[in-house]
Amino acid sequence: MLGVIGGSGLYDIEGVKVIEEVEVKTPWGEPSDRYIITEIHNKKVIFLPRHGKGHKFPPHLINFRANLWGFRKLGVSKILSISAVGGINPLLKAGDFIISNQFIDFTKSRPQTFYEGIYSKYDEEDKKDDLVNQYLKDKRVVHIDVSYPFCPYMQSVLKKSFEDLGFSYKDNATYVATEGPRLETSAEIKAMASLGADIVGMTLVPEIVLARELAMHFVSVSIVTNLAAGISGDRLTSDEVIEMMHQKNEDIKKVILKFVENLDANFNCSCEEVLEGAAI
Ligand code: HPA
Repeated sequence: MLGVIGGSGLYDIEGVKVIEEVEVKTPWGEPSDRYIITEIHNKKVIFLPRHGKGHKFPPHLINFRANLWGFRKLGVSKILSISAVGGINPLLKAGDFIISNQFIDFTKSRPQTFYEGIYSKYDEEDKKDDLVNQYLKDKRVVHIDVSYPFCPYMQSVLKKSFEDLGFSYKDNATYVATEGPRLETSAEIKAMASLGADIVGMTLVPEIVLARELAMHFVSVSIVTNLAAGISGDRLTSDEVIEMMHQKNEDIKKVILKFVENLDANFNCSCEEVLEGAAI
Protein backbone atom coordinates (compact mmCIF):
# COMPACT_ATOMS: atom_id res chain seq x y z
CA MET A 1 0.00 0.00 0.00
CA LEU A 2 1.09 3.59 -0.65
CA GLY A 3 1.46 6.23 2.04
CA VAL A 4 1.57 9.92 1.12
CA ILE A 5 3.18 12.41 3.48
CA GLY A 6 2.08 16.01 2.96
CA GLY A 7 4.35 18.92 3.80
CA SER A 8 3.77 22.57 4.67
CA GLY A 9 0.47 23.78 3.26
CA LEU A 10 -0.71 20.24 2.38
CA TYR A 11 -2.79 18.88 5.25
CA ASP A 12 -5.23 16.70 3.26
CA ILE A 13 -5.88 15.65 -0.33
CA GLU A 14 -8.96 17.69 -1.14
CA GLY A 15 -11.72 16.01 -3.12
CA VAL A 16 -10.56 12.38 -2.85
CA LYS A 17 -12.79 9.73 -1.28
CA VAL A 18 -11.99 9.42 2.43
CA ILE A 19 -12.83 6.02 3.93
CA GLU A 20 -11.86 6.77 7.51
CA GLU A 21 -9.37 8.51 9.75
CA VAL A 22 -7.46 6.34 12.18
CA GLU A 23 -5.34 6.98 15.22
CA VAL A 24 -2.31 4.73 15.60
CA LYS A 25 -0.30 4.12 18.76
CA THR A 26 3.39 3.28 18.53
CA PRO A 27 6.15 2.48 21.05
CA TRP A 28 7.88 5.66 19.80
CA GLY A 29 4.97 7.91 20.73
CA GLU A 30 2.30 9.74 18.79
CA PRO A 31 2.35 10.26 15.02
CA SER A 32 1.81 13.83 13.78
CA ASP A 33 -1.92 13.27 13.31
CA ARG A 34 -4.59 10.72 12.46
CA TYR A 35 -3.91 8.80 9.25
CA ILE A 36 -6.45 9.56 6.53
CA ILE A 37 -7.38 6.40 4.64
CA THR A 38 -8.49 7.27 1.13
CA GLU A 39 -9.43 5.46 -2.04
CA ILE A 40 -7.84 6.65 -5.29
CA HIS A 41 -8.28 4.76 -8.59
CA ASN A 42 -9.71 1.84 -6.57
CA LYS A 43 -6.53 1.63 -4.50
CA LYS A 44 -6.25 2.36 -0.80
CA VAL A 45 -3.85 5.24 -0.16
CA ILE A 46 -3.04 6.52 3.32
CA PHE A 47 -2.29 10.20 3.86
CA LEU A 48 -0.54 11.85 6.81
CA PRO A 49 0.17 15.57 7.21
CA ARG A 50 3.80 15.64 8.39
CA HIS A 51 3.37 18.71 10.58
CA GLY A 52 -0.10 17.68 11.77
CA LYS A 53 -3.30 19.52 10.84
CA GLY A 54 -2.88 23.20 11.65
CA HIS A 55 0.91 22.81 11.38
CA LYS A 56 1.35 21.84 15.04
CA PHE A 57 4.89 20.46 14.85
CA PRO A 58 8.02 22.36 13.73
CA PRO A 59 10.43 20.22 11.67
CA HIS A 60 12.82 19.39 14.51
CA LEU A 61 9.96 18.22 16.76
CA ILE A 62 8.17 15.96 14.27
CA ASN A 63 8.03 12.42 15.59
CA PHE A 64 9.34 10.83 12.40
CA ARG A 65 9.72 7.40 14.01
CA ALA A 66 6.08 7.33 15.11
CA ASN A 67 4.95 8.56 11.67
CA LEU A 68 6.80 5.81 9.81
CA TRP A 69 5.95 3.08 12.30
CA GLY A 70 2.27 4.05 12.10
CA PHE A 71 2.38 3.65 8.32
CA ARG A 72 3.98 0.22 8.74
CA LYS A 73 1.24 -0.86 11.17
CA LEU A 74 -1.38 0.15 8.62
CA GLY A 75 0.28 -1.97 5.92
CA VAL A 76 2.12 0.79 4.03
CA SER A 77 5.34 -0.27 2.30
CA LYS A 78 5.80 2.64 -0.14
CA ILE A 79 6.04 6.34 0.66
CA LEU A 80 5.49 9.37 -1.55
CA SER A 81 6.88 12.30 0.42
CA ILE A 82 5.92 15.85 -0.52
CA SER A 83 7.75 18.90 0.77
CA ALA A 84 8.39 22.60 0.34
CA VAL A 85 12.03 23.56 -0.30
CA GLY A 86 14.23 26.54 -1.02
CA GLY A 87 16.01 26.57 -4.39
CA ILE A 88 19.82 26.72 -4.24
CA ASN A 89 20.73 25.77 -7.80
CA PRO A 90 20.57 28.97 -9.90
CA LEU A 91 18.58 27.13 -12.57
CA LEU A 92 15.65 26.74 -10.17
CA LYS A 93 12.75 29.12 -9.70
CA ALA A 94 9.79 29.30 -7.34
CA GLY A 95 7.06 26.86 -8.36
CA ASP A 96 9.40 24.21 -9.84
CA PHE A 97 8.78 20.53 -9.12
CA ILE A 98 11.90 18.63 -8.09
CA ILE A 99 12.68 14.93 -7.76
CA SER A 100 15.67 14.29 -5.49
CA ASN A 101 17.99 11.34 -5.75
CA GLN A 102 20.53 12.17 -3.03
CA PHE A 103 20.58 13.98 0.28
CA ILE A 104 23.13 15.71 2.48
CA ASP A 105 22.25 15.71 6.16
CA PHE A 106 22.83 18.78 8.31
CA THR A 107 20.24 17.96 10.95
CA LYS A 108 21.49 17.82 14.51
CA SER A 109 19.04 16.58 17.11
CA ARG A 110 16.79 13.98 15.54
CA PRO A 111 16.54 10.28 16.32
CA GLN A 112 17.49 8.58 13.05
CA THR A 113 17.08 4.92 13.94
CA PHE A 114 14.59 2.41 15.29
CA TYR A 115 17.42 0.03 16.17
CA GLU A 116 18.87 1.23 19.44
CA GLY A 117 20.63 -1.97 20.44
CA ILE A 118 20.09 -2.69 24.11
CA TYR A 119 17.63 0.24 24.32
CA SER A 120 15.49 -0.96 21.38
CA LYS A 121 11.73 -0.89 21.67
CA TYR A 122 9.48 -3.58 20.29
CA ASP A 123 5.84 -3.33 19.24
CA GLU A 124 3.91 -6.31 20.64
CA GLU A 125 0.95 -5.37 18.42
CA ASP A 126 2.98 -5.65 15.24
CA LYS A 127 2.88 -9.29 14.24
CA LYS A 128 4.94 -9.14 11.04
CA ASP A 129 7.49 -11.91 10.77
CA ASP A 130 10.30 -9.97 9.13
CA LEU A 131 13.82 -8.68 9.69
CA VAL A 132 12.53 -5.44 11.24
CA ASN A 133 10.85 -7.28 14.09
CA GLN A 134 13.65 -9.80 14.35
CA TYR A 135 16.29 -7.07 14.75
CA LEU A 136 14.16 -5.13 17.25
CA LYS A 137 13.37 -8.23 19.29
CA ASP A 138 17.02 -9.27 19.31
CA LYS A 139 18.08 -5.70 20.20
CA ARG A 140 20.48 -5.51 17.29
CA VAL A 141 22.34 -2.46 16.01
CA VAL A 142 21.73 -1.66 12.32
CA HIS A 143 23.80 0.42 9.93
CA ILE A 144 21.46 1.02 7.04
CA ASP A 145 22.86 1.57 3.54
CA VAL A 146 21.82 4.92 2.06
CA SER A 147 24.27 5.07 -0.86
CA TYR A 148 21.25 5.46 -3.18
CA PRO A 149 18.42 6.17 -0.77
CA PHE A 150 15.49 6.67 -3.15
CA CYS A 151 13.48 3.87 -4.75
CA PRO A 152 14.49 3.66 -8.42
CA TYR A 153 11.18 2.14 -9.50
CA MET A 154 9.06 4.79 -7.76
CA GLN A 155 11.33 7.52 -9.19
CA SER A 156 10.64 6.22 -12.68
CA VAL A 157 6.88 6.15 -11.97
CA LEU A 158 7.06 9.71 -10.70
CA LYS A 159 8.86 10.92 -13.82
CA LYS A 160 6.32 9.15 -16.04
CA SER A 161 3.52 10.77 -14.04
CA PHE A 162 4.94 14.27 -14.61
CA GLU A 163 5.36 13.47 -18.29
CA ASP A 164 1.80 12.08 -18.62
CA LEU A 165 0.51 15.30 -17.06
CA GLY A 166 2.69 17.49 -19.28
CA PHE A 167 4.24 19.10 -16.18
CA SER A 168 7.86 20.16 -16.27
CA TYR A 169 10.13 18.94 -13.46
CA LYS A 170 13.81 18.63 -12.61
CA ASP A 171 15.32 15.41 -11.37
CA ASN A 172 18.61 14.09 -9.99
CA ALA A 173 18.57 16.80 -7.33
CA THR A 174 20.58 16.75 -4.11
CA TYR A 175 18.46 17.81 -1.12
CA VAL A 176 20.29 19.28 1.85
CA ALA A 177 18.40 18.80 5.10
CA THR A 178 18.85 21.47 7.76
CA GLU A 179 17.84 21.36 11.41
CA GLY A 180 15.64 24.44 11.42
CA PRO A 181 13.36 25.86 12.41
CA ARG A 182 15.41 28.92 11.54
CA LEU A 183 16.21 29.50 7.90
CA GLU A 184 19.80 29.50 6.64
CA THR A 185 22.36 32.28 6.42
CA SER A 186 23.47 33.26 2.93
CA ALA A 187 26.97 31.94 3.81
CA GLU A 188 25.45 28.57 4.70
CA ILE A 189 23.64 28.47 1.38
CA LYS A 190 26.87 29.32 -0.48
CA ALA A 191 28.62 26.51 1.41
CA MET A 192 25.78 24.09 0.60
CA ALA A 193 25.91 25.07 -3.07
CA SER A 194 29.62 24.35 -3.16
CA LEU A 195 28.92 20.92 -1.67
CA GLY A 196 26.60 20.17 -4.56
CA ALA A 197 23.20 20.81 -2.98
CA ASP A 198 20.36 21.89 -5.32
CA ILE A 199 17.55 22.39 -2.81
CA VAL A 200 17.23 22.93 0.93
CA GLY A 201 14.53 21.75 3.31
CA MET A 202 14.05 20.64 6.88
CA THR A 203 12.20 17.34 6.70
CA LEU A 204 13.58 14.73 4.28
CA VAL A 205 15.99 13.50 6.96
CA PRO A 206 15.32 11.42 8.99
CA GLU A 207 12.05 10.56 7.22
CA ILE A 208 13.75 8.75 4.35
CA VAL A 209 16.30 7.07 6.63
CA LEU A 210 13.60 5.65 8.90
CA ALA A 211 11.52 4.48 5.94
CA ARG A 212 14.57 2.68 4.63
CA GLU A 213 15.16 1.10 8.03
CA LEU A 214 11.70 -0.43 7.61
CA ALA A 215 12.66 -1.62 4.09
CA MET A 216 10.06 0.68 2.54
CA HIS A 217 10.25 2.18 -0.94
CA PHE A 218 10.58 5.97 -0.75
CA VAL A 219 10.34 8.77 -3.27
CA SER A 220 10.19 12.52 -2.81
CA VAL A 221 8.62 15.43 -4.70
CA SER A 222 9.63 18.90 -3.64
CA ILE A 223 8.16 22.21 -4.64
CA VAL A 224 10.51 25.19 -4.72
CA THR A 225 8.62 27.78 -2.69
CA ASN A 226 11.38 30.41 -2.58
CA LEU A 227 14.95 31.01 -3.64
CA ALA A 228 17.26 30.05 -0.77
CA ALA A 229 18.76 32.65 1.59
CA GLY A 230 20.89 35.32 -0.05
CA ILE A 231 20.05 34.35 -3.64
CA SER A 232 17.47 37.04 -4.34
CA GLY A 233 18.62 39.22 -1.44
CA ASP A 234 15.03 39.48 -0.14
CA ARG A 235 14.01 38.50 3.37
CA LEU A 236 12.44 35.02 3.39
CA THR A 237 9.00 34.52 4.87
CA SER A 238 6.77 31.58 5.82
CA ASP A 239 3.98 33.46 4.03
CA GLU A 240 5.66 32.96 0.65
CA VAL A 241 6.19 29.25 1.37
CA ILE A 242 2.53 28.64 2.23
CA GLU A 243 1.33 30.92 -0.58
CA MET A 244 3.33 28.93 -3.18
CA MET A 245 2.14 25.59 -1.77
CA HIS A 246 -1.46 26.82 -2.03
CA GLN A 247 -0.83 28.03 -5.57
CA LYS A 248 0.51 24.58 -6.51
CA ASN A 249 -2.14 22.65 -4.56
CA GLU A 250 -4.19 21.55 -7.60
CA ASP A 251 -1.08 20.46 -9.51
CA ILE A 252 0.27 18.57 -6.50
CA LYS A 253 -3.03 16.74 -6.24
CA LYS A 254 -2.86 15.85 -9.95
CA VAL A 255 0.65 14.46 -9.44
CA ILE A 256 -0.51 12.31 -6.50
CA LEU A 257 -3.50 10.94 -8.47
CA LYS A 258 -1.42 10.19 -11.58
CA PHE A 259 1.32 8.60 -9.48
CA VAL A 260 -1.23 6.31 -7.79
CA GLU A 261 -2.69 5.43 -11.19
CA ASN A 262 0.74 4.58 -12.63
CA LEU A 263 2.08 2.68 -9.62
CA ASP A 264 2.12 -1.08 -10.05
CA ALA A 265 0.93 -2.49 -6.72
CA ASN A 266 3.12 -5.58 -6.95
CA PHE A 267 6.51 -4.34 -8.09
CA ASN A 268 9.69 -5.65 -6.49
CA CYS A 269 12.97 -3.83 -6.13
CA SER A 270 16.10 -3.92 -4.03
CA CYS A 271 14.70 -1.53 -1.34
CA GLU A 272 13.11 -4.62 0.22
CA GLU A 273 16.48 -6.29 0.70
CA VAL A 274 18.25 -3.39 2.41
CA LEU A 275 18.06 -4.99 5.88
CA GLU A 276 19.79 -8.19 4.84
CA GLY A 277 23.22 -8.27 6.46
CA ALA A 278 22.70 -4.75 7.87
CA ALA A 279 22.71 -5.69 11.57
CA ILE A 280 25.67 -6.36 13.84
N1 HPA B 1 15.18 26.66 3.67
C1 HPA B 1 14.84 25.56 4.40
N2 HPA B 1 13.65 24.98 4.31
C2 HPA B 1 12.76 25.48 3.44
C3 HPA B 1 13.05 26.62 2.66
C4 HPA B 1 14.32 27.24 2.78
O1 HPA B 1 14.64 28.24 2.12
N3 HPA B 1 11.93 26.88 1.91
C5 HPA B 1 11.02 25.91 2.24
N4 HPA B 1 11.52 25.07 3.15
